[in-house]
Amino acid sequence: MLVINPKRVNEEIEEKPYWYNYYAGYSHSFAKNIIESAGLKESSIILDPWNGAGTTTLMSSVNGHNSVGVDLNPVMKIIARAKQATRSDVGVIESKLLGLSAVRVQKVRSDDPLFMWFRDSGVTAIRRVERAIIQSNKFISVSAKVDSLEASECVLYTALFNCIRTYLKDFIPSNPTWIKKPKIDADKIDVGWKEFKSRYTSLVLEMLNGLRVEEHIWPADRALLKVASSTSLPLPDDYVDLVLSSPPYCTRIDYGIATLPELAVISIIGTSDIDDVRRSLMGTTTVPKKIDSPTAGEMGELCFKFLEDVKAHSSKASGTYYYKNLLQYFTGLSRSISEINRVMRPKASFVCVVQDSFYKDLHCDLPSMIVELGSMAGLRLDQRHDFESKQSMVNLNARSKSYRKVTTAYECVLIFVK
Ligand SMILES: C[S@@+](CC[C@H](N)C(=O)[O-])C[C@H]1O[C@@H](n2cnc3c(N)ncnc32)[C@H](O)[C@@H]1O
Repeated sequence: MLVINPKRVNEEIEEKPYWYNYYAGYSHSFAKNIIESAGLKESSIILDPWNGAGTTTLMSSVNGHNSVGVDLNPVMKIIARAKQATRSDVGVIESKLLGLSAVRVQKVRSDDPLFMWFRDSGVTAIRRVERAIIQSNKFISVSAKVDSLEASECVLYTALFNCIRTYLKDFIPSNPTWIKKPKIDADKIDVGWKEFKSRYTSLVLEMLNGLRVEEHIWPADRALLKVASSTSLPLPDDYVDLVLSSPPYCTRIDYGIATLPELAVISIIGTSDIDDVRRSLMGTTTVPKKIDSPTAGEMGELCFKFLEDVKAHSSKASGTYYYKNLLQYFTGLSRSISEINRVMRPKASFVCVVQDSFYKDLHCDLPSMIVELGSMAGLRLDQRHDFESKQSMVNLNARSKSYRKVTTAYECVLIFVK
């Protein structure tokens, strides 16, 4: 297989990769090279169990393969689905855009989560655009709402997410996975319908260029996108020929917070669904009250030893909050690796992009831990490629620097065979 540095650089030739700036992805060229050199047949199926913004599923479609993309965050399904839109969706998108002004919304609800950042006029403008995208507001759950969306509607939602983010710039600190809330109402964003509509319209028009790309033509069902957990994949045994993915890293990134504005847009107002999504994601900073301690046999020697070291660490809350937080992460990871093995066909490959990190001064050698978990599940490591990664998520937490000088992390590509 052809393995290049997975890091995202500004070498993307096409437009779609730029549609949503997800800090967590590997590059489209990396995915393209892997898919093209994996010796796949036309009928082969590719899986990404942590599909994020849909790099794997997009490049699978571009290369003529069916794929399955799983992510537990419904926002990511919308973005990955948007990238599956083709030229045949342009007409529907244009006509919805033309109909924007005709849409009216009644008074917005006072418990709308968008009030976290916007004043009444802004919330009304956002809900007005949303009503133009989907006419109904009768969904009982966020998953029912997201499952009902066509690719064209996902393009319009993705533009809405991007539009909102242009107003939220001042609330996003240097760590792109965090978002602040204004302390007082006077600091909330004040934007009227005319301005919002014009900014939104130009973002959609820009995105339409990405749909006019010649090679981006495929049947609507080429990629199956699911809101589901990697710990319980909604697929039969021995089903996929290539798994290409990157798990949530052990860097205390809260993927729920990272997409809080988007979750606020799609949530069913008055329910706890934003919180439910946040709590369910691997790497969440929320922890359950009670959690069972594993044995080395269940978890692998390396994960077990790391967890024991964290538990015994002298720093504040290491043996309580942080231990539970990391235990939850490793339990999810271990279950996910055995699920990946279950759904792989014999001789299929699993290409896994992963990074090491630190807890205080303790090195978390995630690549070696995954190699061990893979071998416990029945996967043989065939190749390992290490790339130095200077701008790593490891360095985002300024406080952690007081524990150590090391600032380089390794982005590692592991290739397993079943
Ligand atoms: C490192 S990102 C994946 C990046 C992706 N390869 C891309 O190119 O955009 C990890 C993703 O895992 C998702 N995730 C977290 N916990 C999950 C779980 N239990 N099951 C499925 N997806 C999960 C997060 O929502 C996030 O999008």
